[in-house]
Amino acid sequence: MDNAGMKKGIALKDDWPGYSLDLFSYPEHYHEDIESVYIPHGIIMNRVERLAHYIMDDFADNNNIMVLCVLKGGYKFCADLVEFIKVLGRNSNKYLETRVEFIRLKSYLNDQSTEQLQIIGSGDLSFLRGKSVLIVEAIVDTGKTMKALLKHVETFEPKMVKVAGLLVKRVPNMAESLTDYVGFEIPNHFVVGYALDYNEYFRDLNHLCVISKTGKMKYKV
Ligand code: HPA
Ligand code: MG
Repeated sequence: MDNAGMKKGIALKDDWPGYSLDLFSYPEHYHEDIESVYIPHGIIMNRVERLAHYIMDDFADNNNIMVLCVLKGGYKFCADLVEFIKVLGRNSNKYLETRVEFIRLKSYLNDQSTEQLQIIGSGDLSFLRGKSVLIVEAIVDTGKTMKALLKHVETFEPKMVKVAGLLVKRVPNMAESLTDYVGFEIPNHFVVGYALDYNEYFRDLNHLCVISKTGKMKYKV
């Protein structure tokens, strides 16, 4: 199998409308706020397990892996990915010790990307020196954020840096090449759930969903 190709993610077509809401269960309070189930939670989980396999293979020469989780949106992806890495390690005797650190970036207001990127709440990252690092991010679109973060991480002179992105968006100048492990490649839709928010709402939704007009209005700031 062509692993390199598969790491580039499962591509969802531009006209994929998502699954009808009544086919799945989800928190009742979001009933009017989402249009469809874009990627069900079970499919996300299985894809994350697959990415964990790729990562185990690529980091096999290391005893440990420094995971840099990009908050807040990356927290579920990161937690599930690290869990799969641990389980796979236990089951294969190639145990990779994981250390997870958190970094917080903010660039979105409502559903729009704003120009200024802030790296907020990153502690001392000097422990990255000489280590193999995995950056875990929920969404990569233009890659502006990821480029800035990579530049920041490189200043600590790690041995190797890889990027895992659950979603890569098909936008002009798409930053696919920045992302070593891609869960899904999706059209340029605003999606919520699985820790991705719209003004802090919808993080408690397990599926990735398309927000409705009503939802956008209701939670606008
Ligand atoms: N959903 C939530 N947050 C985001 C998105 C999105 O589609 N794109 C960038 N930040
Ligand atoms: Mg957000």
